[in-house]
Amino acid sequence: MKIVVTAGPTREKIDHIRYISNRSSGRMGYALAAAGKKFCPDGETVLISGPVNLPIPDGVRVVPVESAEDMLAAVKAEISNANILIMAAAVADYRPATVFPGKIKKSGDDMVLKLERTPDILFEISQIKKPDQIFVGFAAETEELIGRAIDKMRRKKLDWIAANDIAPADRGFESADNAVTLLGANGERVDFPLMSKGELAEKILARIMSGIKK
Ligand code: CTP
Repeated sequence: MKIVVTAGPTREKIDHIRYISNRSSGRMGYALAAAGKKFCPDGETVLISGPVNLPIPDGVRVVPVESAEDMLAAVKAEISNANILIMAAAVADYRPATVFPGKIKKSGDDMVLKLERTPDILFEISQIKKPDQIFVGFAAETEELIGRAIDKMRRKKLDWIAANDIAPADRGFESADNAVTLLGANGERVDFPLMSKGELAEKILARIMSGIKK
């Protein structure tokens, strides 16, 4: 059993010292990787991680990445013999269209930064998905949670999506706790109430793996 988990934010460079990023702490992805190793101690768990400040879970191999482009390359390198891919990373959707070499100096004028799309990692990987592979995504939303999550699951050919309402302050980004509704491509729906990310990771993974072993 090989489980690949992505975690944390990506950083998209503006110049030598500045970047665009987001508030992802990486905790949900790190908890999922720890759960993967706990459930499959003899298997391989790979954690493709954006820049975060968290201890590496025991027995997990970490592949550190910075940008969405780096994360795509790392996922491509790990995916061919993987059984499960869980994309818990908060991948930046846009990056500066040009990276300034060195440090941008300020001027008296306003500044306009042109952004271009980053690759959609799950969408690209879904094109080379094998029938027996299980792909899991996260949908962080502040409104129309379930409808948008189902739409993402279909568009990215996922087997499961964890719909994550990030509007309340007590869950999701930068929080120790989370609550999700796990939706299956087969129409299944499991509501996990607010709990620690460690507990939630184990419940999500147990549900996903019970489907494989049936
Ligand atoms: N994702 C990805 N590559 C991206 C953006 C997102 O693989 N460039 C993955 C995330 O890791 C997550 C899922 O796609 O598992 C949904 O991410 P989300 O940001 O909620 O959806 P987007 O497709 O980016 O849509 P939007 O930002 O419009 O909500």
